Amino acid sequence: MKSHVAVLGLGEMGSALAGAYLDGGHPTSVWNRTPGKADGLVAKGAKVGSTVRDAVGGADVVVVNVKGASVAGDVLGQAGDALGGRAVVNLSDGTSAEVRAVAERAREVGADYLHGQIMTIAPGIGHPDATIFYAGAEAVYERHRAVLGLLSGHAPLVSSDPGVAVLYGMAVHGTMWGLLNGFLHAAAALSDEGVRVEDFLERADPALSALSGFLPMIAGEVDRAEHATPYGALRHHLPSIEDLVRESRARGIDTELPEYTLGLVAKAVRGGRGDDSYSRLVEHFRRRS
Ligand SMILES: NC(=O)c1ccc[n+]([C@@H]2O[C@H](COP(=O)([O-])OP(=O)(O)OC[C@H]3O[C@@H](n4cnc5c(N)ncnc54)[C@H](OP(=O)(O)O)[C@@H]3O)[C@@H](O)[C@H]2O)c1
Repeated sequence: MKSHVAVLGLGEMGSALAGAYLDGGHPTSVWNRTPGKADGLVAKGAKVGSTVRDAVGGADVVVVNVKGASVAGDVLGQAGDALGGRAVVNLSDGTSAEVRAVAERAREVGADYLHGQIMTIAPGIGHPDATIFYAGAEAVYERHRAVLGLLSGHAPLVSSDPGVAVLYGMAVHGTMWGLLNGFLHAAAALSDEGVRVEDFLERADPALSALSGFLPMIAGEVDRAEHATPYGALRHHLPSIEDLVRESRARGIDTELPEYTLGLVAKAVRGGRGDDSYSRLVEHFRRRS
């Protein structure tokens, strides 16, 4: 027997989620605030609820995917006690505190709760390489594994605390934005010189690929709070970053990004951390008490 799934929210992502359940043969009911978005899904067999309460009736798993976690809490609130005994899977983004508040609302009406942090775009739903980080009770996760696994090839349970899945997602995005900003700054310098960025990428591939091998070392140093290193210490980074700032200035391209990095490294070196690994800079980002 396939679980009955209700999908609340039929935006770009919610429609992809409902489509994946229908393709997987799950009885699927749907609801959206603005009517008329379910036509394609109805053609595939979805049943449309006229209200949230109507849509969740009979569902084993209630997936909510709307504009954000606060909206998700409001939408679930419209189901009231009809959620009792069902599993709520909130796939709407938000902060860790907002997601924990949604979990608390679900708990108050007797629903099981999982948060899922989607790490792909809508066309990636159902792809073996797609990732969704889940957090919540292990028993709930295991009970609904088949339903969760339909959406992404990677669906790890990362914590019993729903807020932690949010942080996993933010950690991936934050790393991505740092990488992309650095890459686009480099691309601006390369194209300023008339170098094709694709040629650079092909030729620099071994050097760039080596960077991902760097992360496990940095992660271990942060976890152990041990930043001593025999090679590649902060004082050796300093002249390279100074060169990048001077090169950027001379070309008239943005200096804000490399100057930010220079500021972090120079401050650490001035503070006597010049012989430490780059991982020492985590202290700059930590909560100030
Ligand atoms: N799209 C992606 O590639 C992607 C990737 C990862 C994560 N996500 C996450 O998935 C969630 C949905 O994103 P999306 O891209 O599908 O957004 P979207 O296309 O803009 O759709 C937003 C959905 O939220 C509903 N909504 C907004 N305000 C509402 C309210 N006050 N009450 C009830 N429903 C409301 C909308 O209903 P109406 O139709 O009535 O406006 C619509 O169903 C977000 O948390 C987003 O961060 C999306």
